[in-house]
Amino acid sequence: MKKNVYILGIETSCDETSISIVKNGNEDVYTCVATQMDTHAEFGGVVPEIASRMHTENITFVLEDVMTKSGVTWDEIDAIAVTYAPGLMGCLLVGLEFAKTLSMIHKKPLIAVHHIAGHIYANNLVEKIEFPSLGLVVSGGHTELILLKGDYDFEVLGSTLDDAVGECYDKIARIIGFKYPGGPNIDKHALEGKHTYDLPRPMDDDSLNFSYSGLKSYIINLVHNEIQRGNEINKCDMARSFQDVAVEELVRKSRLAIERFGLKRLIVAGGVSANSYLRSELKSMCEECGVHFSVPPMKYCTDNATMIAAAAYPLFLKKEFADLSLNAKSHEYFFDKKD
Ligand code: KG4
Ligand code: ZN
Repeated sequence: MKKNVYILGIETSCDETSISIVKNGNEDVYTCVATQMDTHAEFGGVVPEIASRMHTENITFVLEDVMTKSGVTWDEIDAIAVTYAPGLMGCLLVGLEFAKTLSMIHKKPLIAVHHIAGHIYANNLVEKIEFPSLGLVVSGGHTELILLKGDYDFEVLGSTLDDAVGECYDKIARIIGFKYPGGPNIDKHALEGKHTYDLPRPMDDDSLNFSYSGLKSYIINLVHNEIQRGNEINKCDMARSFQDVAVEELVRKSRLAIERFGLKRLIVAGGVSANSYLRSELKSMCEECGVHFSVPPMKYCTDNATMIAAAAYPLFLKKEFADLSLNAKSHEYFFDKKD
């Protein structure tokens, strides 16, 4: 009988120090996430130097928690997976050096995982991704529609021509005065608001591309003009108006891709997939189109090491291991590698 595969994953690309053990690529045996969110909230955003220092302080405690509570021994672990890109350089390096050290000491192969691959494979923790599927990747740096043809065989069907949707959420949150983290705050306050601001559609065409910089600039100008006239912005109404327009575009283009490519399944990946309105609108659209919809539970949408260990599993099966010369890359675009 085939032996179970246990992968220990490490994620430190931004402000969560997380380590997880995942069995056979889809079973979360135990995950620990130490978040720094409250510390960075005081500064209005992630402070890279503080973040990397806190990863250094926390990471051994996080590992200790995992090794005592998971019930898995070092002998049983088959590989060490780590996020090598993209993210804050100092933060990535803490996780990477830690992973290399563990790999050397315990003589386990090292697996390099791209953060966005992690977000995509988080879906396997709920139900195995079936191919072909449409993937909507929405994060602070990515907004893409991708055709998932097989494991690590992805084709970009459309992408943002400028800003990513998550980046737009964060900028709008800041301009209307919501605290860090911006995206979740817009999500929360939009529920209390009404769609009263008439905002331009992000990209009024039938391509599968996106554009969020026009919408962002429009809102920034609108807010500045109102402030100059001595008027107050209704924050919740603005959050609602912005979210309606931003999400409608993601849903409309996902539907176009589904119809154009005759797809029967949709998965969502990336930090913005935690957005409650996006989740419910995509679900309704998929029900109308007879398409199977899958989105990870909230705890796997925001940054975590479970998704990193899950994404490492197909690489483990293919024996795609990294060596100790592996370096961190702050800006590597995931899908470029396939072109
Ligand atoms: O994928 P991710 O963890 O980071 C990148 O790799 O970029 O996504 C972070 C992004 C941020 O822009 C954050 O504001 C957004 O995801 N986000 C949300 C929500 N939760 C996180 N955006 C809207 N609604 C949310 N609930
Ligand atoms: Zn992320």
